[in-house]
Amino acid sequence: MRLLLLVFPLLLGAQVIPPAKVFQPKPPPEQPIPFNHKVHTGQAGVKCLDCHAIKDPGDQAGFPSEAACMGCHVAIKKDSPAIQKLAAFAADKKRVPWVRVYRLPKTVYFSHEVHHKQAGVACADCHGPVGEREAVGLEKSIHMAACMACHEQRKASNKCDLCHDSH
Ligand code: HEC
Ligand code: HEC
Ligand code: HEC
Ligand code: HEC
Ligand code: HEC
Repeated sequence: MRLLLLVFPLLLGAQVIPPAKVFQPKPPPEQPIPFNHKVHTGQAGVKCLDCHAIKDPGDQAGFPSEAACMGCHVAIKKDSPAIQKLAAFAADKKRVPWVRVYRLPKTVYFSHEVHHKQAGVACADCHGPVGEREAVGLEKSIHMAACMACHEQRKASNKCDLCHDSH
């Protein structure tokens, strides 16, 4: 009976919450160029937003341009094979095909602008301590249950159409 009472309002709205997925961290994928966050944010002191500038409309953090990388690498380690590969992409004006780590289904709406710039959620809350990592793997859940847990805690809405079909 208690269970029925819990389930009933959801059925009424014809919106059934799927069972929460179990989160499995994933090791870093092999990248076309072995980029190391620890070297760049730690040793070289580059800020997250200098490379992941949340540009209009602000949904994405995005990836830096190859020209931006070459701002340093025309000189730094220019003889290294990895940097020569990078330089070739930059010269051909081609994007390095970085293998994506955090990715939502296309049907889910998410904004970096709102979360980071407006609500002040730290990058590490959703991605872990990337600046200490030599390579980035999936260390934090971006499943629906994880989104909703923080929304509940931060008193943000958990209406279905906030994240689905509203944009
Ligand atoms: C602010 C300067 C700066 C920028 C911008 C920068 N790097 Fe670096 N990068 C460094 C420094 C410093 C090192 C460490 C060099 C060393 O080991 O002596 C390094 C090392 C590397 C290495 C290792 C090279 C090797 O063979 O040891 C790779 C690969 C690399 N960077 C790729 C990139 C990519 C890709 C970008 C753009 C997304 C980028 N870097 C942007 C400063 C920079
Ligand atoms: C010098 C440029 C540079 C800086 C500084 C930098 N990043 Fe990155 N970031 C990259 C590049 C290039 C990639 C793609 C290669 C990879 O996944 O390692 C990347 C990948 C990522 C990814 C994985 C994206 C995905 O889903 O595929 C996350 C998350 C991330 N960075 C967060 C951060 C955070 C947080 C900081 C600050 C602590 C930071 N980055 C600083 C260049 C940078
Ligand atoms: C509230 C959680 C959250 C916060 C805070 C957050 N991210 Fe993300 N990030 C995500 C999600 C979710 C994705 C996958 C987005 C998608 O596939 O549409 C993502 C994707 C990325 C990517 C891959 C490229 C892209 O833009 O989709 C990079 C790079 C990244 N984040 C870097 C950062 C950096 C740097 C910060 C801090 C300035 C940050 N993120 C803050 C949740 C977050
Ligand atoms: C660590 C906390 C946290 C996590 C994790 C988080 N959110 Fe949020 N989210 C917030 C807060 C706080 C707000 C309210 C921001 C405001 O109203 O200023 C918000 C607002 C939103 C909004 C409404 C704002 C807009 O752009 O329309 C959407 C959509 C959203 N989140 C989607 C997601 C999705 C999808 C995920 C999981 C991939 C997620 N959020 C994970 C804290 C979080
Ligand atoms: C705060 C953001 C957020 C809210 C609110 C939200 N969802 Fe989701 N939903 C997600 C994300 C992110 C995914 C994709 C990741 C995953 O499958 O966990 C998802 C996936 C789904 C899926 C596909 C699951 C699958 O396994 O294919 C369904 C169905 C769904 N949501 C229904 C709902 C319903 C019904 C509600 C309202 C009760 C709701 N969602 C509210 C973020 C949200």
